[in-house]
This record gives sequence, structure tokens and C-alpha cells, in this order.
Amino acid sequence: MGQIIIIEDNQGLLSVLSTGLKKYTNIEPFPREDAEDAIDLLKILPGIKLIITKNKIGNDETAKILCEYIKKNNLPTKLVVNGPVNESLGDSHFIVSTDGDYEQILFNSFKVLNIPLDDIRKRNITDYVSVKTSIYKYLDFIPADTFIRLKKPDGSDYYLRCYHHGDKDKLESIESYITQGVENFFIHEEDEVRFYNVFSDCLTQILEIQHIPLKKRLDTMADAYDTFSPLVVKWGLISCLVQMYDDLISSAKIALEMHHFIPMVYSQIEKENYSYNFKNFMNLSGAFFLLGRQNFSDLFKEVDKLMGVAIFHDIRLKGQQAMILSLRELREAKYNAIEEEIILDHARDAAEILKDEYAFPLDMSKIIREHHGDHSGIGFPIPPKETIGHLSKVFLATEMFLKELYETKDTPDMEKLQKSLNEDIYKKIINQLYLIFSGRK
Ligand SMILES: [Fe+2]
Ligand SMILES: [Fe+2]
Repeated sequence: MGQIIIIEDNQGLLSVLSTGLKKYTNIEPFPREDAEDAIDLLKILPGIKLIITKNKIGNDETAKILCEYIKKNNLPTKLVVNGPVNESLGDSHFIVSTDGDYEQILFNSFKVLNIPLDDIRKRNITDYVSVKTSIYKYLDFIPADTFIRLKKPDGSDYYLRCYHHGDKDKLESIESYITQGVENFFIHEEDEVRFYNVFSDCLTQILEIQHIPLKKRLDTMADAYDTFSPLVVKWGLISCLVQMYDDLISSAKIALEMHHFIPMVYSQIEKENYSYNFKNFMNLSGAFFLLGRQNFSDLFKEVDKLMGVAIFHDIRLKGQQAMILSLRELREAKYNAIEEEIILDHARDAAEILKDEYAFPLDMSKIIREHHGDHSGIGFPIPPKETIGHLSKVFLATEMFLKELYETKDTPDMEKLQKSLNEDIYKKIINQLYLIFSGRK
């Protein structure tokens, strides 16, 4: 089938094209910077059948230079050009593609390589995965062909394309889908990682602005958080998820530095209908932030780490599952056996995700494992094991205090808390939290 050169300075498009070509032709294309770079390779490999190139790279008239070289040396190479080309050069060496349309570029490339299109159509039937409609509002452009799922009269599904990859001008219509109650769009499974790469880049741009209103910051973070968690469980910490994690931590810090956690951030969170896990992450973060700045100066340098634990610790739990902090509560909630096991083991399983991730502080995984009081990360021992680490104890006491606060709304039952947490460190933490949160109203 021959070899292929790609000259493309848009890294996203380059990776889509390379993946598409590899998938259907089993050829690993050679990426090259510009015309000169490609000609150096043509001198060694004059039999190259196809060059996919942008019409111009910077000031380099890439397509024109290559065409002249191919003609002059009578090479069998054909060009598929991304973007407009000088007409005087248009002959059989060219198939001009639409600007940036990767499907068109691939389609023309397959024609050049004599790959039967029926074959491709057959193989092109891919699985669809859902993406929350609400997160499209953060995107600058549509990063993947996007479909809505409809039902045929016989009950089977079919997918109708509503956006093309690269669309920029249709983002306002997203709102109308949301208003119509379309909760999920669908994309091809093979586009999923690229989709979330673009999503995380767009989030970074929004969240790094210092002066966005608090409500907008929290709404964006809540959507980011609820997107991040199931993806981490599914993929582990791939780079776009590490980027989302960094964005969540730095944005939480901006919120806490620019606004008083008590009462501002806390009361804003109370007002909104955020997921329990996001609300708990923000309130834990606010509590650690203030503990570190008040009586517990030894915690000051540990705040980032504890906020990181707050993000990950219940990552495998959904909905109200994360509210369970004791075996009695677990039994009363009457989950089925599979769910019960997930809840019992969630601390251990969340710790496993971080165990070999050297970009994160070493003891983060340990604190996550111990956040319900046992070294194994299984179960909810009361009282917690005395031998768990100091930061694990800080985390555990803070989370128990917060839960008591959510449930009682008014006055946390300090006696009840002190009964289940019998060491001095716990008493100190919950007494200080009591003082901090008494200013919340
Ligand atoms: Fe938790
Ligand atoms: Fe937990």
C-alpha cells in the first residue's frame, strides 16, 4: 500500500489523521514539518505514494513546492491538500480537500490508496458513548461529530448527527437542546479522549481567570468535577484528567483566597443543587484552608494534599452513597450486595488509582485508604484505628463534622461526635471547626 507523509501544524488534526490512517491502512504515517523536510525524506524514499499536507505552513508554500518537486522528479506521489491551492498547479497530482475537514481528507486519502470505501463504511460502524449536554457550553468549538439518539418505531436506536467536528457557530443552539430536556449527546467512542482533551483545555481557560463571579466559578467546577470522577474510574489518570484535577485544585484555591469561605462560599454552595461529592469536596477544602490558616499551622503546607484527597476519596461512590460513614448507616440504606461491597471497599479502591502515580504526593494514597479509619481501606471502624496517620485523622474528623452539619443544619451534635472520636486530635479539630462554622449564618 505504500508509505504516507503528513505535514500538518494543527496537532489535534494531525493526531486524528494519523489515527484514522493507521486504523484503516495499518500504515504509520511520517509526520514532517514543512516542504523541505518532506523533500529530504522523498530523496530517500522516492516511492512514497501519498503526502497529506496543509496548503501552507507559515510562509512556506508547502503544497506548491511539493507539487513542483514531484513533477520535476516524476515521482508516483500524490498530494491531498488541506486548504485552497493555487489553481495553476491543479492537475492529477492534486485532490484538494476542504479546509480542516478531517473526514474529507481521509476520504480522499483512501481514494488515492485504492482502499475500497465500502470496506471503510463497514468498519466505520463504531460504538457511541454519551456525553453530558451541559458540558458543551464550555467548549470553544465542537471537538467531535456529535449525535442525538432517537428511537426507530421498532424500538431500536439510531443516531442523528447534530454537530460536525470543528463547528464553531452553533454553540448557542446547545442551550435549546438543554431546554428541550436532551441530557446527553453521543459521540463515537474513538473520539472520546480527544473530546475530553479539548474540554479540559477550555476549562483551564475559564477557571484560570481570577475575577469570574463566584457562582460561575462554582457552577463550572461542579460540572468539571462530575465529569472528571467517572472518567478517572474508567481510564485512570490520563493527562487530560490530571489537567482537570490541577484546574479543580487551583480554582478552589482562587475561590477561597478571593472570597471568605464562611459565610460566602459555604452559603453559595448550600443554595445550589450540586452533587453531594462536589459540595463535600468544596466544603472539606474550605475547612482545611481555614484550619491551616488558624490554629493548625502545621496543616498550612498540607492543604493542597488534603484538598486532593477530598477530590479522590469517594470517587467510586455515586449520589448519596458518599454520605455513609458507618456500618450502621450502610445497613440502614439497604443497598444491594454489589453496591454494599463497592461502598465497603471504596477507600481501598480509590487509593489504588493513585498508588503508582508519582506526580502526586506519596502519602495521598495512604490518606485516601485510611479516610474511614482503617489501614486496609475497608469498612468503617468506630472508633477509628489509633495507628492511622495524623493527616488521615484530620481528614476523618473534618468529614464527620461536616456530615453532622449537613444533617442537623442547625447545631452539630458535638457530644455525639466526641463519643465516636475519642482521641485528643479529633477533639481539637472538631472544636476548631465548630468555631469556624458558627459564623456561617
Ligand atoms: Fe467522603
Ligand atoms: Fe469515603
